[in-house]
Amino acid sequence: MSKFFVVANLKMNKSFNESVIYLESLIQNVTNYDDEIILCPSNISLEYFSKNIGKFKLGIQDVDQRDQGQGTGSISASQVKDLCTFSIVGHSERRIQFNETDEIILQKIKILQKNDIIPILCIGEDLNIRKKGFPEVEKFLSNQIKNSINKQINTNNLLIAYEPIWAIGTGKSASISDINDVINVIEKNLKDISDNKVPILYGGSVNEQNSNLFREHEKISGILIGSASLDYKILSRIINNK
Ligand code: PGA
Repeated sequence: MSKFFVVANLKMNKSFNESVIYLESLIQNVTNYDDEIILCPSNISLEYFSKNIGKFKLGIQDVDQRDQGQGTGSISASQVKDLCTFSIVGHSERRIQFNETDEIILQKIKILQKNDIIPILCIGEDLNIRKKGFPEVEKFLSNQIKNSINKQINTNNLLIAYEPIWAIGTGKSASISDINDVINVIEKNLKDISDNKVPILYGGSVNEQNSNLFREHEKISGILIGSASLDYKILSRIINNK
């Protein structure tokens, strides 16, 4: 059985010095290495993390859809391929704040795989769509999947995280029954693209109290944690608490 993925998305938090202390403290406190632990710090800490991360894996929070050149302030997959094993892509904060479309996300997935970085594709609907009922949710998520994954994508080197926007940073995670419905939608759409089994993660208000619910679910292969990962003590307890 493959390992359970624990992805920590630190977002736009922690200075360089704070992230150095965070990593040292986390390494001291995490005693269970059964999980595949993927740390995604801010870009300023990638190089330090890559040298000091021990048995954890390093992920970048996003990359540009282009390979190099005129992209002031951006970072490309080929620039970080020596440092990172994973990259988050299509996070709702990028889609909303930076107007990233499914087409751009498809480009990013292609360029990540070309550079041997495993994409963690985030999909998820907002509250308006959720309120319209499940058929609308299904339509929306199916489109996100179909538009950002095609037959050129190597589904052996891909993770998908279901992150409903209404659950991110709200303290209100999706229920297991919501997640079950969405897993069916993801599996149905993937079948049209490939026979490979793509690990499906859940993200959105994962915390110490609910993390085991997701861990114990046979079809959930991992969790993506934002706020609760910022405190190394909480993240260590989530990882150690098997
Ligand atoms: P959250 O964030 O755990 O704070 O809800 C998750 C995410 O945005 O990836």
